[in-house]
Amino acid sequence: MGAHCLPPLVFLGALLVLPQLLLASTTRYYTFNVTMQKVTRLCKTRAIPTVNGKFPGPKILTREGDRVVVKVVNNIKQNVTIHWHGVRQLRTGWSDGPAYITQCPIQTGQSYVYNFTITGQRGTLFWHAHFSWLRATLYGPIIILPKLGVPYPFPKPYREVPIIFGEWFNVDPEAIIAQALQTGGGPNVSDAYTINGLPGPLYNCSSKAHLTPADTFKLKVQPGKWYLLRLINAALNDELFFSIANHTLTVVDVDASYVKPFDTDVVLVTPGQTTNVLLRAKPDDGSPPATHLMLARPYATGRVGTYDNTTVAAILEYVPAGHIKSRPLFRPTLPVFNDTAFAANYSAKLRSPASPDYPANVPRQAEPPFFFTAGLGTNPCPTYRGRSGPTNDTKFSASVNNVSFNMPTTALLKAHYDGNTASVYTSDFPAVPLVPFNYTGTPPNNTNVSNGTKVVVLSYNTSVEVVLQDTSIQGAESHPLHLHGFDFFVVGQGVGNYDSSQDPANFNLLDPVQRNTVGVPAGGWVAIRFYADNPGVWFMHCHLEVHTSWGLKMAWVVNDGPLPDQKLMPPPSDLPKC
Ligand code: C2O
Repeated sequence: MGAHCLPPLVFLGALLVLPQLLLASTTRYYTFNVTMQKVTRLCKTRAIPTVNGKFPGPKILTREGDRVVVKVVNNIKQNVTIHWHGVRQLRTGWSDGPAYITQCPIQTGQSYVYNFTITGQRGTLFWHAHFSWLRATLYGPIIILPKLGVPYPFPKPYREVPIIFGEWFNVDPEAIIAQALQTGGGPNVSDAYTINGLPGPLYNCSSKAHLTPADTFKLKVQPGKWYLLRLINAALNDELFFSIANHTLTVVDVDASYVKPFDTDVVLVTPGQTTNVLLRAKPDDGSPPATHLMLARPYATGRVGTYDNTTVAAILEYVPAGHIKSRPLFRPTLPVFNDTAFAANYSAKLRSPASPDYPANVPRQAEPPFFFTAGLGTNPCPTYRGRSGPTNDTKFSASVNNVSFNMPTTALLKAHYDGNTASVYTSDFPAVPLVPFNYTGTPPNNTNVSNGTKVVVLSYNTSVEVVLQDTSIQGAESHPLHLHGFDFFVVGQGVGNYDSSQDPANFNLLDPVQRNTVGVPAGGWVAIRFYADNPGVWFMHCHLEVHTSWGLKMAWVVNDGPLPDQKLMPPPSDLPKC
């Protein structure tokens, strides 16, 4: 029978299928060509690694439920991988990206196709390189729109604008971290912060006139309209305060999960975190249009000199535009650098919607109790190498539960999948500190850390609770801890040492915020919970890149579940080899 005489029922069937086809998920294809590109900032021209010659890199635009396929081609001299920060990667750990954890790096001249589906997330995430310090310039936004036909749970914005924070170095960041690891001291700090790759008018640069447009990101807004700003902190080593003069922001989403909206004049966003805020442009009241500065500068708990204490500015300009010099210029006030009280109050405001549409599926109780210290320490460094470490015979190190993570030379995930782990990692990562001490009090005399490639093995769907405790060794410091493969609930936080007999009574199990990166408070603790419902190997580390370099990282192995859809998929055929 020819196509021209199909029975009517088939046509009817085709018509019924049609609306579903329209709603079905889409596959979004991208090619990321990693190349060197000359870029000028602060009057310095440097060849930097970029994706497709762009800095910041291209944005991934997708919808909840879509599949994303990105072919990454490495055309630079160094190894590279790309991580889709915050994307859950359900059963697709091969596409997660951290070098030597889920894959061997993509070598020069090679390529690798990342292939994953966005499930149960909507908001803003970002992608970045996950090899050494390459993410200093290799980063870009991931925009996840709600499913087709599903509205935002807040007023529909007139425009949506990514605001991505970064750090600019006048010299190659790879040379900076190599030198720091060589000498045992802290790395040089960045020369500027950037907003959408631009440092703004507050930096000295010979060619810069006041408010040089080429160096400054400018957001033009129309009176009375709503804007959704998608804030992303892609900086290497610094948490940032952000504020816009004369405008209150409404926080609506963090790390691609909605929150109960709340108003604030200042947003705090750590490296690895994203925050969607609504900005309502002021109505036209006939007064001459003004220019409002948007500023970001660090929230820093480390010692002075260990962070870049400069300020990046961008401009909020009302249209129709007048002449910049003739209009009033407003500047916001930001908290002081070490305003830990602000940080605590701010993070306490973040709550899940916990609504029928967006329930908070918080583990009621946690099976194995994990208590992890996170902080700095030292390693012996007997040979003098022109070092600048904490003392003459030590170098900086960092650890979780006093284990400083040794990077393996092959990928953990493949070793796990092949059941061939003996020479790659051990499963004896301590669930609690082996030697308890007064974590936030006077540091112990011996601050040496141990080293190892140790993991925690979990069975599928374990209810996990981890209390992350800052330590005061080398100074109490806030650590933005990032977990790959999961969104976790932040059920509690506090100052001082965690008290397992008192503190759990105050946990919020009703509407805790859900996210992938949480600031462990300086001199305090935070408690997170999640279901281990994603089989694979998942990195957890401080998103201050220097601390990751020093070993503040570990990995979770989640075993397959019994059902077919609870198993890690087989590795793709183009998975890079070490
Ligand atoms: Cu955004 Cu493992 O990192």
